[in-house]
Amino acid sequence: MTRASSGAPLSRRQLLALAGVGATAWMAPQLSAGATSRPRLTLPKLGPMPGQPLARLPELPTFSGAAGLETSCLTAAPLSITSAASGVLAPGPLAYGAGFPGPVIRLREGQPSRVILRNRTGEPTNLHLHGLRIPPHVDQPFLHLDSGSDATYRFHLPPRSAGTYWYHPHLHGSVEDQMERGLVGPMIVEPTRLPAPLAGCDDHLVVLSTRLDARQVLVNGAPTPTLEGTTPLVRLRLLNAGVGRTLTLRMSATAGPGEGRLRPMWVVATDGGFVNHPVRLTSVTLGVGERVEVLVDAMVEPAALLTSDDHVAQLVLTGPSSAPTLPARGAVGHVPLLRPARNAPYRRIVLTQASDGSFRLDGRLFDPHRIDQRVRAGALEVWDIVNTTGVEHPFHLHSWPFQVLRRGHVVEPFPAWRDVAVVQPGQTVRLAIPFTLNKGRTVYHCHVAMHEDAGMMGVIEVA
Ligand code: C2O
Ligand code: CU
Repeated sequence: MTRASSGAPLSRRQLLALAGVGATAWMAPQLSAGATSRPRLTLPKLGPMPGQPLARLPELPTFSGAAGLETSCLTAAPLSITSAASGVLAPGPLAYGAGFPGPVIRLREGQPSRVILRNRTGEPTNLHLHGLRIPPHVDQPFLHLDSGSDATYRFHLPPRSAGTYWYHPHLHGSVEDQMERGLVGPMIVEPTRLPAPLAGCDDHLVVLSTRLDARQVLVNGAPTPTLEGTTPLVRLRLLNAGVGRTLTLRMSATAGPGEGRLRPMWVVATDGGFVNHPVRLTSVTLGVGERVEVLVDAMVEPAALLTSDDHVAQLVLTGPSSAPTLPARGAVGHVPLLRPARNAPYRRIVLTQASDGSFRLDGRLFDPHRIDQRVRAGALEVWDIVNTTGVEHPFHLHSWPFQVLRRGHVVEPFPAWRDVAVVQPGQTVRLAIPFTLNKGRTVYHCHVAMHEDAGMMGVIEVA
């Protein structure tokens, strides 16, 4: 197994892992008394302090087999050092590959791949490879995998799926609990050729984990790390791997003559991969599960990646250049702008709240035996996601990436493949969904883990 270091009584990964938990204790005073019923962790000294270098997450080893099949094997298990202190935390932390977040699963577009999950957690779980364009029978979101068993996910990623993805459990009713206890990890799909504007840029994963109601954000498992870029533009793969909170992020200079000014972020990829050209923005919003890749200026004068609702610095970036740098010219990806016909199949999914307070889809709670949407394979459909509740919900569909056409009255400014769309209270978000490539039965749901676990999920069958 790949480890950042070895030989020490506690490896760096284990420390980071603990940090994920330790930092929860570190922020405990910010939690209101009723926010959690879990006993307070008593190992806060092992958690990393703010300002540590941004952790490079370990890579899950892959093995090449016959016909170019690449296999990687992911083990989910209790986090050993913390379980040695059992009784401190209940229920105990879990980990993919003994760290938090889990190791990077690195795949390649066009490549036959196999990921094996070994469930050694002592409880049932399963694995969702979030965002991958794989058929429902491979994704198996309904799978109940007992402890001691393995599950195999074998697939062939289509061309143009390079991008940033992630993985987490999908066992209905346990998602929030297992994610909160540490079962979250990033996944990267490599392109066959790196687009010119990205050539020569430092490339970093920025895995943001958040709770539903707490302000603390952990970045690759630690609070407010620092990143020293070595190239004038640095590529950040931003991933909201939290359980509930939407993050709006800005980059703001923290020193020098430009202090307080927003630095541009050039979006080069969204959930489903590259966009056509770098898009200059000064703020990006990530619902739970959502990814955006940006190029940012790495200047001698530091900048902080701030969550804009509380102005907390989540990452501090410095670098070699003394002046702003523009991305190189050239296409990044190829995303056709979907224009569904006037008579395209149309559906309305209403996000509702029942009088008992439960969040639902079209007034119904999840029933794995009921098919809520039957779709003809190959159709290009238009879906309106209508939020009638008082809180935002990140809408997510498995297996079929979509394009957002408009959010309320605002036409989406550029075509992009996505699998999560945040729907604000009272808002309607219009999607175009091509039901091509895959067939089968899977789910769509709110990605606030608590809402999903409580039944804000529906079943779709594409045949
Ligand atoms: Cu990332 Cu059905 O979820
Ligand atoms: Cu929700």
